[in-house]
Amino acid sequence: MTSHADSPPVRRLADWDHDRLESLAEEYDTPLYVTDLDRIKENYTRFSSAFPDAHVMYAAKAHTGKSVLEAVLEAGGDIECAAWGELKRSIDAGADPNTLQYTAVNPPDRDLDYATDLADDAPGLTITIGATDTLDRLQARGYDGRIAIRINPGIGTGHHEKVATGADAKFGVPYERVPDVADRVRQEFELVGLHAHAGSGVLTEGLEEHCRAIERVGEMARRVGDESLEFVDVGGGYGVPYRENDEPLDLEKTSALVRDAVGELDATLKLEPGRYVVADASLILSEVNTIKEAPDTTVVGVDASLATLIRPAMFGSYHPMYNVSAPERESEPVTVGGPVCTSADVFAHDRPIARPEREDVIAIGNAGSYGYELASQFHSQPRPAEVALEGGEARVVRRRETLEDVTRVEQD
Ligand SMILES: Cc1ncc(COP(=O)(O)O)c(C=O)c1O
Repeated sequence: MTSHADSPPVRRLADWDHDRLESLAEEYDTPLYVTDLDRIKENYTRFSSAFPDAHVMYAAKAHTGKSVLEAVLEAGGDIECAAWGELKRSIDAGADPNTLQYTAVNPPDRDLDYATDLADDAPGLTITIGATDTLDRLQARGYDGRIAIRINPGIGTGHHEKVATGADAKFGVPYERVPDVADRVRQEFELVGLHAHAGSGVLTEGLEEHCRAIERVGEMARRVGDESLEFVDVGGGYGVPYRENDEPLDLEKTSALVRDAVGELDATLKLEPGRYVVADASLILSEVNTIKEAPDTTVVGVDASLATLIRPAMFGSYHPMYNVSAPERESEPVTVGGPVCTSADVFAHDRPIARPEREDVIAIGNAGSYGYELASQFHSQPRPAEVALEGGEARVVRRRETLEDVTRVEQD
């Protein structure tokens, strides 16, 4: 039997059991998110095994579903949160609040209220700040506990400019100001770590730049005294192959490069992958409702839309697609779009897919990270159901929304 650490580093859409997917679509209707919790555990374990002496937390923002958080906890992971709701949902999923790390980015009052109330009974909670205003606001709430400082390393990386946070002034304390901020934190709080997150979706070719940002974090840790820090957290950002010919990250190599970049440290290395853990564990099943021959292309209309998965519209992201109803048909390039009235609601142009026909089920792969999490009710579309697979069993972990769910908070 393969251990989770030895599980395949990539799961392509073609590797899923297509008969099963078709019957899930029939049983639970479409559009449908299908999330394989066993794969989440494999991904977490494979990643953390490649960093044996590091502490690997899961960045909850990639997919904050309860079943996902439970799977990560079961695999031994801790959780990094970016908002009070993520803290609460992590605790509801069984996380010990003492193990949580809360990364505050321009935090609303309600987030700081929740985090500081939580810390009253959970002194192990860590709050990561990216601005001294946050320190003032924590002090005003009587907080003097564990603080990590988010550094702006001045180097951003990732698959799209909108996710390259490392050089964006919005994130982190400006690099040269970190020693002063560290002095203040030491006097007024407990300084436990430094943190940075350079960007998201890094594959092998982006590793060098990613590691340049990490080098800066290691340098700063030594400047402020790494022997007095508990951890140095270099964030997440580890990508997965979305395109069929993209190679997966070589984790051994990635681990060696990250270690080398951060340099000698008398503090524990921390990482917080989100995408890597969940991306290839979920897909969307969507039914074809329209085939239209247009002068330059065949348009395939499906019932998923940018409200179901916004990444293609937001980042121009590529998601693999597969006709699970008839993979044997000859493939032809088609345009696949949903029911939303904007030209942005297109999953792919000129994509070769086994010639779709009405009522075929099309799988849209790698939908686990920033997929359901960014789903909306645009066009008054109730959000889809989510079915989890675990140990061979399927169960609904999020029921399909109804129109009443969409209108529930309206008032006359
Ligand atoms: C602070 C922080 N940590 C971790 C992550 C997770 O990134 P990824 O999903 O690319 O691993 C993010 C993503 O935005 C982040 O902002």
